[in-house]
Amino acid sequence: MKIGIVGGTGGMGEGFALRWCVNHQIVIGSRDKNKASEVANNYTKIAQEFYKDKKIGGDGEAGNISGDNNFDLVKDLDILILSIPYESINDTCSKLSKDTSDSCIVVSPIVPMKWTEKGFRYIPFEEGKKTAAELVADNFKSRSRIVSAFHTISEVKLKKLELTLDADTYICGDDTSVVEKIKGLASEIPGLRPIYLGELSMTYQAEVLTPMLLNGAKKNKLKNPGLKLVV
Ligand SMILES: NC(=O)c1ccc[n+]([C@@H]2O[C@H](COP(=O)([O-])OP(=O)(O)OC[C@H]3O[C@@H](n4cnc5c(N)ncnc54)[C@H](OP(=O)(O)O)[C@@H]3O)[C@@H](O)[C@H]2O)c1
Repeated sequence: MKIGIVGGTGGMGEGFALRWCVNHQIVIGSRDKNKASEVANNYTKIAQEFYKDKKIGGDGEAGNISGDNNFDLVKDLDILILSIPYESINDTCSKLSKDTSDSCIVVSPIVPMKWTEKGFRYIPFEEGKKTAAELVADNFKSRSRIVSAFHTISEVKLKKLELTLDADTYICGDDTSVVEKIKGLASEIPGLRPIYLGELSMTYQAEVLTPMLLNGAKKNKLKNPGLKLVV
């Protein structure tokens, strides 16, 4: 598949690109095209070094990591990952949506979170604002193509390619066949188990887990913890 990562120059973007480049064609997006190209070259070198026995960096589909301006990469994507801050959703997505194809699946790992003296807080509960995935959905034609996922994965762990995650990711979306595709993508990351929570309106249950996780980590001195349902 062709996967575009808007804001792919950040920590999460790096982790996603390095994990998925083995099986897919990746395009890193940035507000600055030159930065995107430089970063993509850097990711390619890291991936080539780690996946020595695989074909990384060629012209073919899988293994190719390139860079482009956020708004030029969206035209023929299978999957669009929005790896950008909550505050930039409306500005970025209103422009992206013009050229996003009807078949493209849009994934939001975005966590609306802020730091206060009492700890990390979830912005929609604190300030009566919309959840990240609902804001994303407001900007695209088809709500059924929006999936919310990957909120509780630490970028530090995602970028460490030698690491098996041993964690869940909690997923929301209205169309279960679309959700299945993102569950498949999540499962390609070793040790990551996708857990479906329900329709997109339930996204707050996935997004709010991140401030909870970070408060637990900070106050109990746990390094980059993940979450997992146990039975
Ligand atoms: N970091 C984590 O461990 C983690 C875990 C789970 C979920 N998340 C969520 O995943 C998303 C990405 O996380 P991250 O840590 O990689 O984020 P980040 O480093 O803060 O930002 C990612 C990229 O977004 C772009 N960006 C920054 N401000 C922007 C603006 N005003 N408009 C458009 N683009 C802007 C920047 O790229 P350019 O300057 O190149 O355009 C930046 O490299 C966030 O929504 C975060 O809540 C993060």
